Amino acid sequence: MMNKMMQAIRYHQFGGADVLQLEQVPRPEPQAGEVLVKVYAAGVLPVDWKIRKGLFPMPVQFPHIPGTALAGVVEEVGSGVTQFQKGQAVFGRTTKGTYAEYTTAPAEAIAHKPLSISFDEAATLSGGATTAWRAIVIDGVVKAGDRVLVHGAAGGVGLFAIQFAKWKGAYVIGTAGPSNVDFIHSLGADTVIDYTTTSFEQAVQDVDLVLDTIGGETLERSWSVVRRGGSLVSIAGQPPLNKAQELGIRVMRSSLATNHDLDHIAKLIDEGIVKTFIEKTFTLSDARQAHEHSQSGHGRGRIVLHIADM
Ligand SMILES: NC(=O)c1ccc[n+]([C@@H]2O[C@H](COP(=O)([O-])OP(=O)(O)OC[C@H]3O[C@@H](n4cnc5c(N)ncnc54)[C@H](OP(=O)(O)O)[C@@H]3O)[C@@H](O)[C@H]2O)c1
Repeated sequence: MMNKMMQAIRYHQFGGADVLQLEQVPRPEPQAGEVLVKVYAAGVLPVDWKIRKGLFPMPVQFPHIPGTALAGVVEEVGSGVTQFQKGQAVFGRTTKGTYAEYTTAPAEAIAHKPLSISFDEAATLSGGATTAWRAIVIDGVVKAGDRVLVHGAAGGVGLFAIQFAKWKGAYVIGTAGPSNVDFIHSLGADTVIDYTTTSFEQAVQDVDLVLDTIGGETLERSWSVVRRGGSLVSIAGQPPLNKAQELGIRVMRSSLATNHDLDHIAKLIDEGIVKTFIEKTFTLSDARQAHEHSQSGHGRGRIVLHIADM
């Protein structure tokens, strides 16, 4: 029997944004424990273009469909899947590629979509809200009264980290460029540092937790603002363990969200406690422009590919 076909963005070799091609490809079939999702929207994460450039340490099989973050509707369930049914709206993560009309995802990596937001908005949550949730709530265990510094506070991860830390009752400090200062305040930050005019080390000290989403020099300069016994979480660099031991600072990298985490995030969104923000929306056929936009490293919120209408 002929496979059903779908449109997807694929690339056949590492390279610039021009390797991204819109192609007609076979629609995937859900395996045991998986769900086939009709993708309505895909989040465009910085890691997507890092993988495309061959910069990310993971094996890639060509042709490769990029994207891990999705929002869509269950089309079919594989054997053993009891928690989802055809027609339900979901969001979450897959390793099978989301820049496509359909994808398959493990049932434990997706959850019911928040009712109060669109599919485009729900596509911002995986790799954004989930990463921030793990760093602030689960691994960082931020509690009331903690002082938390979030670098890149306007980004797809940072905007959620500010809100989760505030929800936990922390004193929250964010760094952002001048065009995003008011935005970070509107998310609830107590202090916003414009990184183009002020060195954060001069403005803040004795922080309980730093979430670094920038890496490089920003990560290097962050050691001096964490109190002894505090934590440094970097999702953009690798803090050296020997330095952490010497300074008495706990270091962490990102950890993967469970569908329990996804459910918590969906609830906070539907209760109006946490908001998302879309930087810009592109069509599937404009994935090249979406990657070029993401590569600029600036902006407010997540870039999204709008793939299907309701
Ligand atoms: N491991 C994981 O699970 C995981 C998940 C998601 C992301 N990441 C990584 O984390 C990093 C950030 O991801 P993202 O999705 O949040 O990126 P993003 O949406 O592209 O946002 C980047 C943000 O950084 C800000 N920025 C740029 N230079 C800055 C500086 N020197 N100081 C403070 N802010 C600065 C920009 O704001 P302005 O416009 O104001 O400059 C922009 O809002 C990427 O390297 C990504 O690969 C890792």
